[in-house]
Amino acid sequence: MADMHIANELKKITDIGFLDIEIDPQLDLFREIERLKNQKKAVLLAHYYQEPDIQDVADFTGDSLGLAQQAAKTDADMIVFAGVHFMAETAKILNPNKKILLPDLKAGCSLADSAPVGLFSQFKSRYPDHIVISYINCSAEIKALSDIICTSSNAQAVIESVPEYQPIIFAPDKNLGAFLNKKTGRNMVLWNGACMVHEIFSLEKITRLKIRHPDAKLIAHPECEEAVLRSADFIGSTTQLLKFAIKDDAMKYIVATETGILHQMEKSAPHKTFIPAPPNNSCACNDCPHMKLNTLEKLYLCMEYEVPEIVMDEQLRLAALKPIERMLEISRKAGLVG
Ligand code: 13P
Ligand code: SF4
Repeated sequence: MADMHIANELKKITDIGFLDIEIDPQLDLFREIERLKNQKKAVLLAHYYQEPDIQDVADFTGDSLGLAQQAAKTDADMIVFAGVHFMAETAKILNPNKKILLPDLKAGCSLADSAPVGLFSQFKSRYPDHIVISYINCSAEIKALSDIICTSSNAQAVIESVPEYQPIIFAPDKNLGAFLNKKTGRNMVLWNGACMVHEIFSLEKITRLKIRHPDAKLIAHPECEEAVLRSADFIGSTTQLLKFAIKDDAMKYIVATETGILHQMEKSAPHKTFIPAPPNNSCACNDCPHMKLNTLEKLYLCMEYEVPEIVMDEQLRLAALKPIERMLEISRKAGLVG
């Protein structure tokens, strides 16, 4: 009877996005996940926005660049991606012969969704002389229409690798694009997309918080809106924010990015205080609802039953691979590690 239920759930997986099977509450999920990693020669990669338990059980926790670099070099047979769909998809593009698992197939990204391929393709055709640099937070279809991919860790180096006379379309994040236009002096044409988490921070509430904590530095991810970035003491990718918080000599930080990063900050600098930047309403909107769809239970089940798996059309994969390889090459030459 239980086997029949499991078989039905395995069939249903594409509809609900994850395995809905009861787990014995006595099971030590940390030990089980370690056992499955060894048994299946699997590597577990987790983004900093995952819940703390998942970050702690992962083999590597990092930002989008670090995760892509790990996916590119692993010799594991299976990659379990505790992150969102575009990240697992990138791992598949780099590893066509490996099994790539995502604990919840519905873990998407509002930023990636803000660039539907049909509309973007029309937009691109209006700028025939431009090349396309796309932020890694986009679908494989958008990657296939791009010349180079970038992340927040390497975006400046990627843009500066392009001759100044060459016009550029930057997609999909308009906030990151505007920040980079300022930083590099380029005038890239920006697609009008944004991340729902980074757009929610309230400058008014951050200002009030700064008054209450005058010794705190504001550190922000470049996906935040310009007004927040203008007030920031430091701007960087999640890895760069973490490294800054560890090395810098202040003792208190207001952190304007998804709250998951606070786990690593508190672990790496336990003597310092990290305050999540407040959203503009009373919800917990600075938690990414997509990232937080993954749970330790779903992670265990996906490793045990090897679903949901990322599958991809080979022609699409090959087209999306080229701009990712260019990004990895530029990062390697610039000595950038995420
Ligand atoms: P990084 O991890 O590259 O800083 O990006 C943050 C993010 O929003 C990932 O979805
Ligand atoms: Fe996408 Fe924003 Fe969530 Fe990152 S934090 S996965 S950009 S919605």
